[in-house]
Amino acid sequence: MATEQQTTESGVGSGTESLTVTDNRTGKTYELPIADGTVRGLDLRQIKVDDDDFGLMSYDPAFTNTASCRSAITYIDGEAGILEHRGYSIAELCEKSTFLEVAYLLIWGELPTKAQLERWVFDVTHHTFVHEDLKHLFEGFRYDAHPMGMLLSGVGALSTFYPDAKQINDEEERYMAAVRLIAKVPTLAAFSYRHNMGLPYVYPDNELSFAENFLSMVFKKTEARHTPKPELTKALDVLFILHADHEQNCSTNAVRGVGSSDVDPYSAVAAGVAALYGPLHGGANEAVLRMLRRIDSVDNIPDFLARVKDREEKLMGFGHRVYKNYDPRARIIQEHMDAVFEATEYNPLVEIARELEKQALADEYFTERKLYPNVDFYSGIIYEAMGIPTDMFTLLFAIPRTAGWVAQWMEMQEDPDKKIARPRQIYTGERERSYVAMADREGPEKIVGPPARRPKRPRRGA
Ligand code: CMC
Repeated sequence: MATEQQTTESGVGSGTESLTVTDNRTGKTYELPIADGTVRGLDLRQIKVDDDDFGLMSYDPAFTNTASCRSAITYIDGEAGILEHRGYSIAELCEKSTFLEVAYLLIWGELPTKAQLERWVFDVTHHTFVHEDLKHLFEGFRYDAHPMGMLLSGVGALSTFYPDAKQINDEEERYMAAVRLIAKVPTLAAFSYRHNMGLPYVYPDNELSFAENFLSMVFKKTEARHTPKPELTKALDVLFILHADHEQNCSTNAVRGVGSSDVDPYSAVAAGVAALYGPLHGGANEAVLRMLRRIDSVDNIPDFLARVKDREEKLMGFGHRVYKNYDPRARIIQEHMDAVFEATEYNPLVEIARELEKQALADEYFTERKLYPNVDFYSGIIYEAMGIPTDMFTLLFAIPRTAGWVAQWMEMQEDPDKKIARPRQIYTGERERSYVAMADREGPEKIVGPPARRPKRPRRGA
């Protein structure tokens, strides 16, 4: 069969990078431009068997090999275990910056000058209060409502308090949404904890730093001012930096996907909170703690790992879609663990965690699959040592990640390639069936319904 050469609409001149593909169904050859190590998915569409053919699509469930945007915020080299924000290494940022400085860097692209940082910190600090009606919304939750469910609702509800945020092309509105989200998510997170504990909500204290203020809203009792130990605020600030952004992860993809409809940023960020809640994402820190408690003793580790290899269990806090090496964030967390334990009670779970890591990394099941501890493996142990209940751990991920979500949302608004997110599908169902009247329908005897109910948790009230 004769070979016919075609080029894409964008054209490929000699000397540019390109990919030549031959469609063996037709024998036709196509030349697709390569830019930034990618081919454009839409360039495949010209590959057709005939004029009626829709054209070739790529199939990539979970976007394992598809870049969904261009971004200049966070760089990850998963093979080498490198993480950089706006070109600065995560280790250096943790050592030399504060969380709010990093949030500024992520959103505005440069490290702030002294004056810029002062203004930024002032603005965030002075927007930490939430409308009293939001407090009433929280009071409506059951006493044992999961704090992430409450946070999700609270962030979504913010959009109703700031309807002008719908003007997503207005720079001032964008700035205010960025400030309000970063400032108010910790307040909502702390309220959800206090609600869960049956404690009165604590209002923000403008004299405290970002991390101190959060700990005060969580732990303050009758004292006039709650001033947490500096070792704890330092460790918390570092943990906030480590969780601030991580390029196109599940929740960021949710924020971008939902935000691509031009909805207001509060609603887009609420989608991020929802995605983060899941145990495969931000919920993993909570799952790690529950796993370590179940393992209970270092003697039980070999049995536990055998169950993981038999696929009866998952080693939570291990593995990552991008890192095929040690997660650099996990390494930095480990460096701060001892300082926290000196200021708090030693957490015996750390021994189980360290031995679990050692045995897993000596086992070829994990090494062959390049499974290493991720950021969530040790973070929960620190949160627990700080006295934070397990249900709250994912809140401590959501607070800093809000900065990343905002940065990514802002970047998307400026992207000339921005379009509403709308993937294709491969349809696998039936076509063009004749409608069957009720009287003529035949089918299996079994009535489709929910499986047998599990015993319910005891609940207060009706
Ligand atoms: N325990 C046991 N086996 C695992 C684990 C694990 N934690 N993670 C991956 N594997 C195995 C998996 O079964 C598969 O084996 P095989 O090829 O024989 O079927 C192989 O490793 C590749 O895994 P995958 O599921 O294809 O990898 P993925 O990129 O789709 O998933 C992940 C990444 C993070 C969801 C997964 O590693 C996982 O579930 N880890 C535990 C949950 C966790 O710690 N999540 C936090 C991620 S870091 C914080 C964040 O940014 O959210």
